[in-house]
Order: sequence, then structure tokens, then C-alpha cells
Amino acid sequence: MSRIVILTGAGISAESGLGTFRDKDGLWTKYDLNEVATPEGFARNPDLVHEFYNARRANCRTAQPNAAHEALAQLQSDHTGRVTIITQNVDDLHERGGATDVIHMHGELFRALCAACDHRWVAPPEMSPDHLCPSCKATATRPDIVWFGEMPYHMDDIYEHLTEADLFVAIGTSGNVYPAAGFAAEASAAGVETLELNLEPSAVAGTFDAARFGPATDVVPMWVTEVLERTGQV
Ligand code: APR
Repeated sequence: MSRIVILTGAGISAESGLGTFRDKDGLWTKYDLNEVATPEGFARNPDLVHEFYNARRANCRTAQPNAAHEALAQLQSDHTGRVTIITQNVDDLHERGGATDVIHMHGELFRALCAACDHRWVAPPEMSPDHLCPSCKATATRPDIVWFGEMPYHMDDIYEHLTEADLFVAIGTSGNVYPAAGFAAEASAAGVETLELNLEPSAVAGTFDAARFGPATDVVPMWVTEVLERTGQV
């Protein structure tokens, strides 16, 4: 089991106090995703969209990485093979938990993107529609977040990682949003072993070879310890 590829979703950050999207009280039960997470919504009301992401940025700044983020960072440092984390999360809790190899397929809350020239920079705490791009000076500043209807980042890289893995593990994701929801099937078709770690079976639970259910802060550290024990790293 040398190469491990891990996909994470909102469930891994839930116990850090960041809400998920589709659970009871999830973000998409309180906000209309068409208004705050689509290019069309941004074109209609950029102030509202900036307000939404400014609040999420502030919320994220006060959150701390939990035992699941830290366990994955430990796996990355102690496992003899490569461990790649692909996250749908836009928070920075994997990095603050010590992870090094993290692919943010849905963008990053703490990055800004110029819609006019694609320049990217560190997001200011409060972003607003009249912010100038530091490179081209256009007033087209948006959060560097992949919205519904947009292409997730790093897809070529991700498919290469998936098909070259020995084990694919999905953690804390409901399996409702593609392409990420299709990664287990994609990996499986390439002969990769697959495992789901989640609070409850996801919408694509049937595509995994095995599963363990429970809060991420329990099941992830437990699984990491087992992997490291099995491969003689502890
Ligand atoms: N531990 C583990 N899993 C948990 C926990 C927990 N403490 N709490 C909730 N979960 C699980 C839920 O059971 C659910 O399966 O996490 C999953 C969260 O699902 P979603 O809210 O749909 O989040 P996610 O799958 O990451 O969403 C994918 O949708 O809106 C977009 O771009 C956004 O990246 C996001 C994408």
C-alpha cells in the first residue's frame, strides 16, 4: 500500500466548527447556492457573494485543525510511500494541521482571483467588488473559489494520482458533487483499492470496497494508526 490518495470534504472540518453544506443546518440549507456560488450569482450581486465569502474567511480564521487533519499530516510525514491529499475544502485546515501535499480542487478561501486576467494573490480579510487587481488594475476581484458550473482545478494531475494509487480513501464527503463523487469509481476501474471514511454512507457508498463510519476525529486517527502499524512505521 505505498501510494495513498485521499479525497476530503466538508465532513473532515465539521468538528473544527466549520459547517458542512448538505447536513441539517448545512450552508446550503441557509443560503441559495445559485446566488452565492455561481458565476451568474456573482454577476447579479457581487456584494452579496463577497459578503458570504468574507464571513466564511472570518469563520475559518478562528477555526483550528482537528485530530483528523493532524492524523493525515502524520500519515504524510511518516508513511514510506507518497500520500496525496485532494481536498474539496476551501479552508486551510489541512495545511495548518501540518499537511504538505494538498491539492485544492475547489479553490482556496484565502486566495483572490482576477476574473479579467487570472492573476491570483493572497485574499485580503474583506474583499469587495471595487478592489483592483494588483497586476492588471481591473476591478474584477473575486474569491479564488470554483463555483457551480466552473471546472475544478488540477483535474489532469488528479486523474493521474487516482489511477496510479494503491489505495484511494474518501473522507467526509457526501458524494453529491461531481467530478469528485466519481473518483472512487474512477480509481476502482483502474484496479485501485477504495475505502470510505464518513459519518454515514455517502451517495456513492456502493462504489467503495470498504467503509468505516463515525466522526472524522475518531475514524481517521484510528485508520492512520493502523496503516502506519501495518507498514511498520510505528
Ligand atoms: N465526520 C465525518 N464526516 C462527517 C462529519 C464528521 N464529524 N460531519 C458530517 N460528515 C459528513 C456528512 O455525513 C456528509 O456525508 O460529511 C459529508 C458532508 O457532505 P457535504 O456537506 O455535501 O460536503 P462535501 O461533500 O464536501 O460537498 C462537496 O459541494 O457545495 C459544494 O463546493 C462545495 O466542496 C463542496 C462540495
